[in-house]
Amino acid sequence: MTRIAVLVSGGGTNLQALINAQARGELKNGEISAVISSKADAYALERAKNAGIPGYVVARKDYSSNRDMTAALVDKLKELDIQLVVLAGFMHILTEEMVAAYPNAILNVHPALIPSFCGAGYYGLHVHENALAYGVKVTGATVHFVNEEPDGGPIVLQKAVDILPGDTPEVLQRRVMEQAEWHILPQAVSLFCQGRLSVEGRIVTIKEGE
Ligand code: GAR
Repeated sequence: MTRIAVLVSGGGTNLQALINAQARGELKNGEISAVISSKADAYALERAKNAGIPGYVVARKDYSSNRDMTAALVDKLKELDIQLVVLAGFMHILTEEMVAAYPNAILNVHPALIPSFCGAGYYGLHVHENALAYGVKVTGATVHFVNEEPDGGPIVLQKAVDILPGDTPEVLQRRVMEQAEWHILPQAVSLFCQGRLSVEGRIVTIKEGE
């Protein structure tokens, strides 16, 4: 079994999608072993508790820099013997120490079709505000491996979602979650745990399943 840690900062609907997929037996060869939150009051910790998954807090406010927080996270992940790190609404930029500790073993879900509307400053609702302000007609979500560049790592899965007349950032955020994020994140995690993802440069190849 691949031991998975899910890193969160907020509501945790993507965490819930992973928990539900696990309950349905869809995280083949994977087990959510820990949820780590950067905020002590994140609702995602309740979701972990309800599912019987150990929850931990590594609070951003307890560290003077992202680097110090990243070092504390790496220590925790190693102590828990984690093999796959999933960023599911984790709202801080991890420094290169995390990538060095988990090369091609960190997955992030981003609520846009990378390389659009991504990078530093593009997180949560801001992403959808920017997509609407730009006037794109299609957006979506991306699951990618994390490297040193914010939202810049090799792409695993993407799914497109239509923008509709009258959309607000909140309405669009919900549609992108329902139609894209909650599907492609568990799929990507399951593919990783089955050893079906190989990475060469920027290109991720998905091997056929048995
Ligand atoms: C999700 O839309 C996720 O893609 C986004 O924040 C939301 C978290 O929701 N992540 C980012 O913007 C990271 N750059 P959740 O806590 O309900 O899963």
